[in-house]
Amino acid sequence: MKSSALVFLAAFVALAASWGGLVLAPQLQLGLSQQTKTLGGELYPQSRPGLARQGLEVYRAQGCMYCHTQQVRQEGARVEVVLTEAGTNASATVMALVRLNPDLGKLDPVVLLGGLPKTVLTAPDMNAAEPALKALESVGAKAEVLVSAVGPDIARGWGLRRTVALDYLADDPVQPGSRRIGPDLANVGLRLPDAQWHLRHLYAPRAEVKDSTMPPYRFLFEVRKVGARPSPDALQLPPEFAPPAGYEIVPKPEAVALVAYLLSLRADAPLFEMPVMTLPASAPGTNAPATNAPAPTAPSQ
Ligand code: HEC
Repeated sequence: MKSSALVFLAAFVALAASWGGLVLAPQLQLGLSQQTKTLGGELYPQSRPGLARQGLEVYRAQGCMYCHTQQVRQEGARVEVVLTEAGTNASATVMALVRLNPDLGKLDPVVLLGGLPKTVLTAPDMNAAEPALKALESVGAKAEVLVSAVGPDIARGWGLRRTVALDYLADDPVQPGSRRIGPDLANVGLRLPDAQWHLRHLYAPRAEVKDSTMPPYRFLFEVRKVGARPSPDALQLPPEFAPPAGYEIVPKPEAVALVAYLLSLRADAPLFEMPVMTLPASAPGTNAPATNAPAPTAPSQ
């Protein structure tokens, strides 16, 4: 009798410990029960608008995730101290700057303090950047710390930071994918914001990207005889992909929903766990603004 109580206790402790380790600890660590505020003060993640939510189902039904991931990877972060205002005592600011970064001593002080904001120091982490900020503030100058992600995915423009668990909170099922035959789509809404581009690309990928190996999704479109008035939604295709004269290609509701979903995919919210702050457009290492003509991206993995 004595040992059965011991067996019960041992089993209880083993189960309780594994529940604590596998369920409770991750929950506490990720805190994924509700939306959180981004560093910009907005609630994140927002649930997708209705049409985009329907598009998620089309994305799933068509198996887009067999070729596309939705998870941006990152190798590290770059912390930069950016001087935004030189203050009134220019010589004190120059001295403080040279003390922080002796290389800056080689520059003419006029050049050094001209063209603000500019990066004056690259630090290994936030802790190293703090004293530099304090030193600049103590001489009356103003500076900010900018954190940006680095890594091959970031360099390809696939996102501003790595994807974290919170990014998937609003979606069910999540479709992070595992193979990259095509580019990562976590940030495609920001990279390619033109709905017409997506519709043409789905109908005929090669109409938009030369030698694309993505399969066309023609069945998401309808070939219609042009009626008394042409449909305003008809695709404007290059001649080799255009339908015969007198016909037009019109997207079905599935195609429209799918594109709404693609446009809702963004991976740029600055989060507490991934404090990415966008740099001014001219700074090196920032993503080029989204364009309509993506360079064919080399798939990796
Ligand atoms: C057999 C693999 C494959 C499947 C399945 C596939 N794609 Fe692609 N996709 C590619 C390849 C390869 C590219 C790169 C060439 C190009 O842009 O056309 C691409 C490119 C794209 C792009 C442009 C991304 C960019 O940054 O340039 C989008 C958007 C896209 N696919 C959406 C979809 C959607 C939506 C589906 C499902 C309906 C889908 N893909 C299914 C292979 C695939």
